[in-house]
Amino acid sequence: KLADLKGLKRGRLRLGVLTTAKYVAPEILGAFCQVYPGIDVSLKVTNREHILERLLGHDDDLYVMGQPRELNDQIQTIPFAPNPLVMVASVDHPLAGQRAIPLSALAEENFILRESGSGIRDAVLAHFAAGGLVPRVRMQLGSNEAIKRAIVGGLGIAALSLHSLTLESAGGRLALLDVEGFPIIRRWHLVYSRARELSLIARTFLDFAIDYEPEIRARLAEAETNFAHVRDSLI
Ligand code: PGA
Repeated sequence: KLADLKGLKRGRLRLGVLTTAKYVAPEILGAFCQVYPGIDVSLKVTNREHILERLLGHDDDLYVMGQPRELNDQIQTIPFAPNPLVMVASVDHPLAGQRAIPLSALAEENFILRESGSGIRDAVLAHFAAGGLVPRVRMQLGSNEAIKRAIVGGLGIAALSLHSLTLESAGGRLALLDVEGFPIIRRWHLVYSRARELSLIARTFLDFAIDYEPEIRARLAEAETNFAHVRDSLI
């Protein structure tokens, strides 16, 4: 078989991904492992600060993360799928269904923020700071899933990656808020260290992931449609 010839029959692939990429990495790995079933895969999921540490420590073969510009001379980065940040509230929140909410209106709301070291946290705080604003932080949580529960539980609103909402069904309990400056448009990159040569397996996975990107975009588009429906029905 071709896979045997290429030396891909057995071996190891170690991936390190941001907490936002945990929503897509298993799907890509599932498709990859169907083609290369003999490969032993490990997936580490953590926040930006810890992914950067792993990258510098050569803990994994390949990373899915934001672009770490500060390390540009030490790493290779390949632009990957979009990772939009959206503002999320409970469907029964007074702001759900309102149009063009100014950022300043959110400064009055209870905010749920990710832990320090999180890329989402930094992006949200930077966005508020650019508007001369500081969010009123009600609670800090180290998990996107816990944040979704906290929103539904009425503890506040939060910015989340749209990827964390792709399994929410239409008519669910979360709503996207139409806030000035949101979604914050960002994208992931596939990143590896120049200091280590990519293994054949890692190189093969990299190409596979790039080919898989349209599927990921399709999931995002689907999620957006689900939430547009929720928003419109509330008006
Ligand atoms: P985080 O990263 O898990 O560090 O918040 C997510 C992201 O920036 O997409």
